[in-house]
Amino acid sequence: MTLKNVLLGSACVAAATMMAFSAQAAGRLNVICSADNEWCELMETAFELEHDIDVSMVRKSSGEAYAQVRAEASNPKIDIWWGGTGDPHLQAAAEDLTEEYKSPTLDQLQDWAVRQAENANFRTVGIYAGALGIGYNTPLLQSKGLPEPKCWKDLADPAYKGEIQMANPNSSGTSYTALATLVQLFGEEEAFAFLMDMHKNINQYTKSGSAPIKAAAVGETTIGITFMHDMVSQVKQGAELTIVPPCEGTGYEVGSMSIIKGARNLENAKIWYEFALSAKAQSIAEDGGSYQVPSNSASRIPEAAPRLEDIKLIDYDFAKYGSAEVRRSLLSRWDEEIKTAPQ
Ligand code: F6P
Repeated sequence: MTLKNVLLGSACVAAATMMAFSAQAAGRLNVICSADNEWCELMETAFELEHDIDVSMVRKSSGEAYAQVRAEASNPKIDIWWGGTGDPHLQAAAEDLTEEYKSPTLDQLQDWAVRQAENANFRTVGIYAGALGIGYNTPLLQSKGLPEPKCWKDLADPAYKGEIQMANPNSSGTSYTALATLVQLFGEEEAFAFLMDMHKNINQYTKSGSAPIKAAAVGETTIGITFMHDMVSQVKQGAELTIVPPCEGTGYEVGSMSIIKGARNLENAKIWYEFALSAKAQSIAEDGGSYQVPSNSASRIPEAAPRLEDIKLIDYDFAKYGSAEVRRSLLSRWDEEIKTAPQ
C-alpha cells in the first residue's frame, strides 16, 4: 500500500470519527513535536489532509519542549505537545502545565499507555513505547579492535575513550531515561560513579536523543546510547549497526501526548489528540521511518520494532522519575558533577 493510500484511507476513517468536532474543525493548531522529525512532518500532512485546520509545528527534544511549555505558562503559544519521552510530560502534568482530558479512545490503548494517563490524572497519555540500548558501528568497532560492549558497565572501560556519544539529559528525554534507568539499576551513588567513569569516554553530549546513533551510522562516533527503535531506523537506511540490549536490563519510555493548559485552540487540540490515538494514524509511523510500539492495540506494529516483551526491562517507576522533585534533582546533580567534569 502506498503512503498516499494509507493517508487517504485514514482520512476516510477519521472523517467519520470526527463528526462530533466538525463544528469547530476550522482554524489553527500549534503543535510542538518531540518525535523524530520525519514522523512529525508526516503526522502534520496526514492531519491536514483530514481536517480544515492549519497546523503550525515545531520540533523540539523532550526536555526543551517541557522548558518551552513551562516558560510560556502564563501565555501559552502551543496547543498540544505530541511525542517525546513520558517523564517530562508527567512533570508538566504535576506542575499544572497541561490540561486534563479523558479520551473516549482510552479503552483501545495498551495498559502501559493508560497507566501513563492515570499517573498524570489524565493530563497526558501514552502514544508509543520503546526501550533503550547501546548501538555501535560494527565495522568501525572491529577496525579499531575494540571489545563488543554487552552491558552498561562495559561503557566505563577506558578502551572506549572518545568513542561514546549520548545526549544531554536536560534537553533530551532519551538521555534522561538513560540517567533514570542507571539510577534504578544501580542506586544513585553507584550510577553517578559509573556516569563519571563513562564521562571520560564521551566525545559529545548532543542536544537531541537520536543524534548519537545517527552519528554512529555515519562513523562520527563508534558507540551511541539511544532508544533501540532509533537504531532500527538507521539500520533500515543501510547503516551497519549492532543493537545491544544491555545485559543488566534496560529502561524504556512511554512516549506521550499532552494538551497545554490554556490552549487557545482547545477543540482543535482534542481533534489532534483523537487523531493521534487512532490506530490508523499510529499505523503510519513506519512510513515516517519510526519503529516504536504504538499505544492503540489495533495499530500496526512495525515488523522491525523492538518488542518490549523480548527485552529484559526494568520495572521503570514512571511516577517517581517523572515527578518534578526527582527529575529536577537528578538533572542538577548531572549538571554539577558530570557535565563539566574534566575528561
Ligand atoms: O527519535 C524518536 C524518539 O526517540 C522518540 O521515541 C522519543 O520520544 C524522542 O525521540 C526523544 O527525543 P529526545 O531524546 O531528543 O527528547
